[in-house]
Amino acid sequence: MITIIVAADQDLLIGKKGTKNGMPWSNSEDLKHFKKTTLNHTVLFGMNTFKAMGSRPLPKRKTIILTRSDFTSDEVEVRHQLEDVIQEYKDRGEDLFICGGANIYKQALPLADEILLSRIPGKHTGETYFPSFDDMGYTCVEKRPFETFTLEVYRRV
Ligand SMILES: NC(=O)c1ccc[n+]([C@@H]2O[C@H](COP(=O)([O-])OP(=O)(O)OC[C@H]3O[C@@H](n4cnc5c(N)ncnc54)[C@H](OP(=O)(O)O)[C@@H]3O)[C@@H](O)[C@H]2O)c1
Repeated sequence: MITIIVAADQDLLIGKKGTKNGMPWSNSEDLKHFKKTTLNHTVLFGMNTFKAMGSRPLPKRKTIILTRSDFTSDEVEVRHQLEDVIQEYKDRGEDLFICGGANIYKQALPLADEILLSRIPGKHTGETYFPSFDDMGYTCVEKRPFETFTLEVYRRV
């Protein structure tokens, strides 16, 4: 399963420059949900998000970074083609979590099976938005309330 995992506010805002981890809010419950969901799986990030996270891999997860540059690392797998990575995971029947940011989400939306969207209540400040996915064939199949956000699950039908 190819899963896009994202936290967004009511307007699909997802990022703010200059914050500790690039997020427009501080929500520990959502970070716990992200960790629990992705633990022991493969997570894929774009280079900007990787930098916003402090250029470190996430513990107990295989971390893939996408870049067009010649960046190399002993700590993460560096890849240059998103479609190739997604196809490899589809062929192997292995789970892959697409973890942003906006640029990567946009390219992955036509190729993924599922979106796990943590809907953070309210309107926040920032400059990076999750792309509109109204016409991409996704249907909301579940809304699971947490204490501080609602998890919206979308599947491609
Ligand atoms: N709220 C959330 O759940 C969430 C999750 C993730 C990120 N974010 C936020 O999103 C923002 C970052 O998003 P962004 O759109 O600026 O950047 P991004 O998607 O994280 O990274 C973009 C970079 O990825 C590389 N890349 C993109 N497409 C590629 C391809 N097809 N092949 C090879 N490399 C490719 C390029 O790196 P090079 O320039 O090195 O070539 C590109 O500059 C941050 O604010 C972050 O905090 C929020």
